[in-house]
Amino acid sequence: MKIVVIGTGYVGLVSSICFAKIGHQVIAVDKIASKIDQLKKGEIPIYEPGLKEMLTEVVGLDNISFTTNLQEALIDAKAVFIAVGTPQDEDGSADLSYVLDAIKEIAKYSTSSKLVVTKSTVPAKTGEKIKKLLTETNPQIKFYVASNPEFLREGCAIEDFMKPDRIVIGYDEDQAKKILEEIYNYFPASKIFHTDLVTAELIKYGSNSFLATKIAFINEIADLCENVGGNIKDLAYAMGQDSRIGGKFLNPGPGFGGSCFPKDILALLNIAKTNNSSLSLIDAVVKSNNNRKNLMVKKIVNLLDCDVENKKIIWLGLAFKANTDDIRYSPSIAIAKELAKMGAQIFAHDFQAQSNAKKELNDFNNVKFIDDIWEAIKNCELMVIATEWEQYKQIDLSRVKALNPNLKIIDLRNILDISEIKKHGFIFDFIGNGS
Ligand code: UGA
Repeated sequence: MKIVVIGTGYVGLVSSICFAKIGHQVIAVDKIASKIDQLKKGEIPIYEPGLKEMLTEVVGLDNISFTTNLQEALIDAKAVFIAVGTPQDEDGSADLSYVLDAIKEIAKYSTSSKLVVTKSTVPAKTGEKIKKLLTETNPQIKFYVASNPEFLREGCAIEDFMKPDRIVIGYDEDQAKKILEEIYNYFPASKIFHTDLVTAELIKYGSNSFLATKIAFINEIADLCENVGGNIKDLAYAMGQDSRIGGKFLNPGPGFGGSCFPKDILALLNIAKTNNSSLSLIDAVVKSNNNRKNLMVKKIVNLLDCDVENKKIIWLGLAFKANTDDIRYSPSIAIAKELAKMGAQIFAHDFQAQSNAKKELNDFNNVKFIDDIWEAIKNCELMVIATEWEQYKQIDLSRVKALNPNLKIIDLRNILDISEIKKHGFIFDFIGNGS
């Protein structure tokens, strides 16, 4: 089927390439000409494992093309996916201006019937709004509207798209159902969950907010372990063995970040507020996660015996999580900034996020970016692990000890082997360190 995807950000680009992989004819559209030029050359503007290779493959199959010209792209397309950003507005609500701009253009340029599907995370009842806007702008054309929220995670986006736990489709008309079933016929029918438009929109917010709640919960239990003297790793593992709870998203850390959870929980709170509902639990999650950064700063300051000025810190990890170059709402950056404000000398490293972080930390002369962590290890007083890259997990602690016997370590992701750290006699701290 000929499909147009508007927006070549994370969701749009991964969806376009994966739709092409499962056999559709995809035209990916973006207003940013430089991005389209890059994609035409086979270059990927973001870091996502496996995506470049898959792009080469689908270009080879002649299943994908890139353009800035929506009008041309829409000719003969049966379905149009909206995958533009829905950034956070000042009041926490999702800013729909990019979505509505795209809708106006679809209405203006369409010359045949289309299914318009939101993949972007949009507030409840956006589908209704879209339908109204489309039919009012172009009453000659029959438009169908559906919601198909995307659940892929950065860093494992292809796997999430190609092997989904479920595909949610929400629609109010049979023709929308028919077209969506055709689009997703690569996947077993049992994977596809059918519902109405508003429910599909809410499922996305429900899922992200629940996951954020799970993380905030385990973070606070880790703090309790720290005060009571329990072992958070064992606790989280044993809790996760209960199939009603499940072991995923129970890793305590410096707080959740990224372009989705922080924005989506605020948007859900806004949806609740504007619909006379209260979500006190989600309110508490926001507060808990905001407070998390201060707690992490305190832990680091304590490990430096409350004397931060001019202390040299090697900072491992800047991305909001491993396997991405994304630093949006990265707890690592927020915490590093606080320490830099206190006068610490930070030597920052990341495998992919360094150039994005440079722009964000540009104002701090006392933050330097390094490629060689070993040179910095020699000269620093403290090593902070802030992002859970596999390579940090594998760090050779014997070599660290040999280069700098007095180096203190704080692991904000609980990825290091505590028995190894103890064996080498480091002064250390981690999350939920109650022992
Ligand atoms: C999240 C959801 O997991 C996806 O299902 C969803 O499609 C996406 O948002 C979206 O709305 O587009 P993502 O933001 O890529 O995906 O990242 P996650 O892997 O969910 O991690 C989010 C944050 O939670 C990160 O800061 C991560 O470090 C933190 N986290 C995650 C923890 O602190 N502990 C955990 O156990 C898991």
